[in-house]
Amino acid sequence: MVNKPKQHAIWGHRGTFVLAATGSAVGLGNIWKFPYITGENGGGAFVLMYLVFIAMIGVPIMIGEVLLGRRGRANPVNAMAQVSDETGAPRLWNGIGWCAVLAGFLILSYYSVIAGWTLEYVTSALQGEFAGLDGASSTLAFEALLADKNRLIGWQTLFIGLTVLVVAFGVTKGLETAVRLLMPLLFVLLLVLLGYAVVAGDFAAGAEFMFGFNARDLSWEAASIALGHAFFTLSLAMGAIMAYGSYMPGNSSIGTMVLTVAMLDTLVALTAGLAIFPIVFATPGISPSEGAGLMFVSLPIAFGAMPMGVVFGALFFVLVTLAAWSSTISLLEPAVAYLTERFSLKRLTANLLIACSAWFVGLGTVLSFNDWEGITLIGKFNFFGLIDFVTTNLMLPLGGLLMAIFVGWVVRRDILRNELRQESERFFNLWYWVLRYISPLALLIVLLAGLRPLFD
Ligand code: TRP
Repeated sequence: MVNKPKQHAIWGHRGTFVLAATGSAVGLGNIWKFPYITGENGGGAFVLMYLVFIAMIGVPIMIGEVLLGRRGRANPVNAMAQVSDETGAPRLWNGIGWCAVLAGFLILSYYSVIAGWTLEYVTSALQGEFAGLDGASSTLAFEALLADKNRLIGWQTLFIGLTVLVVAFGVTKGLETAVRLLMPLLFVLLLVLLGYAVVAGDFAAGAEFMFGFNARDLSWEAASIALGHAFFTLSLAMGAIMAYGSYMPGNSSIGTMVLTVAMLDTLVALTAGLAIFPIVFATPGISPSEGAGLMFVSLPIAFGAMPMGVVFGALFFVLVTLAAWSSTISLLEPAVAYLTERFSLKRLTANLLIACSAWFVGLGTVLSFNDWEGITLIGKFNFFGLIDFVTTNLMLPLGGLLMAIFVGWVVRRDILRNELRQESERFFNLWYWVLRYISPLALLIVLLAGLRPLFD
């Protein structure tokens, strides 16, 4: 039998799932990564593919993942076992839970390094270091940070510490309290920034870049990146959403909640793009295809030039830090839930064990930006490039494919219908059909196409 805990936590408020899942979904992926990969992959065509993947693949699988968590009422590994038993399927399907927890761990390792950069930028903003920056000096400042290993490790350690702090307090006292405070604040800050981009940036050029469609920019590689990102941004296929679903009260409508989360997440990504690109186009010396430094190089220039830039600059990077924070707690939680429920470890012990391991693996990411930068492991990838590629472009889509097959073809229909009893017949049938036929096929095609960079 599965080691089922006597009592699995349940969120204290009806709306917490939406806040917590949105907190998980909205993060560096939306504010840092989405704008820069849009910039690297040609703008509008990329955004279009991304939106299609969110709707056709992301949302149906997210509904499936939440459903599995709530049905299993346990951490991802045990929840998968629970549902497999109930439906009479082999325990092999546990593998999905395992793969999920592992992917989450690897993502956490590099995510906290990059979140650390945002902490550094909060302090630089407050010290007025953005004043008078231009394209060249801002790039230099960013490169100087990346070259400074000890600084990077310091921030990475602080950030993991913050994450441990929340997760240690548990589901309702820690996670729930944190997201109820952080999320509203984040939305307000983002709107303030959008306002600034409209007033001070080249808004027309920014919007044209993001929504101007050019068929020439469609490519398999861009499709694979867009698909991986659709999973990444929704926090799919690695147990976070399953774990949060497992804390969801039984009478909440999964469909409504998932649609809300997906919409909010997309809205934040698009808003972040609309806040960043107008500034990029209004600033000489930087281009949209700047890469990983886009947000860190372009925005300080704008803040340095604007009235009250110290305040707005610090606010912006605080916002990104908060968004990243509510994401890392969801990356840590599934593994912690697994260790406490499966091996009866204390929450704090499990928490420290995983956080320290993630910190250690994260050192590889730190070095990828200085000492190990030129050391390529496979194809064109260095350590960070490889972890990012393998988790986002392979593990997440693969986990998603297996989840779609499991929910769509293995789990008994009456179990699904019962978990989705709040949904109308029409909604259920549409969801079931898309999840069985459309999502897996589309996923398979894009996944195979995405293997190419490994052989370049
Ligand atoms: N979705 C978050 C972002 O966009 C990152 C994240 C949190 C995540 N939890 C996850 C990504 C689980 C994949 C899986 O920044």
